[in-house]
Amino acid sequence: MIISIDGAAGTGKTTVGKIVANKLNYQFLDSGKIYRAYTLKMIKNNIFDTKNIIGQLSSTKIKYIYKNNKEILDLDGIDVSNNLHSDLVDKHVSEVSRIPEIRLKMTNLQRNIVKKNFIVVGRDIGSVVLPNAELKIFLTASIKERAKRRFNERKNENLDEIENSIKKRDLIDSTRKVAPLTIPEKAFVIDTENKNIDTVCKEIIKMAK
Ligand code: DC
Repeated sequence: MIISIDGAAGTGKTTVGKIVANKLNYQFLDSGKIYRAYTLKMIKNNIFDTKNIIGQLSSTKIKYIYKNNKEILDLDGIDVSNNLHSDLVDKHVSEVSRIPEIRLKMTNLQRNIVKKNFIVVGRDIGSVVLPNAELKIFLTASIKERAKRRFNERKNENLDEIENSIKKRDLIDSTRKVAPLTIPEKAFVIDTENKNIDTVCKEIIKMAK
């Protein structure tokens, strides 16, 4: 079975997805990490205009490996797994991932990674990347709650700045022309606002079973 979990930043997709994958003995793919890896390359090379961002596609190799419950992102032969969640990547990732040519390549990459028994998290998994997923979940939570979660994760950043950064990303991710963040058809919506991680995981496992 393929399970998709979509939702905005801070809704808990990755945390929940990994736990559920572990419990069901499934593979796990966080599609956001793929967009983050490509964005990291643009930041390192100081490339911020659409034409040149697209121009880097043919010379970029991204590999994704999931082993012992850990995700490894290999960008052009270098393990960048620990460099994907900086505020600089947060700042640029939505601008990079709104570009249709980038999405096409990353969507194909994701489809090639996902075989059977996978949990895949992202923004457009149930709607575009894997529309035949047997179980589709969409997680929500208010902007205040999501900002608070990010703040607790990262500590070193300012709560208001995190909230503004998430708001900007929400806007770009949900209004882009190709594969915007949306509730996929037949998805089960779980409002995670007042639920702990364990409760959300249990709900998804129950549905999967
Ligand atoms: O889930 P995340 O916060 O790591 O995702 C980072 C960004 O990547 C998100 O703001 C938009 C983009 N993204 C996307 O466009 N499509 C996906 N399936 C996953 C992420």
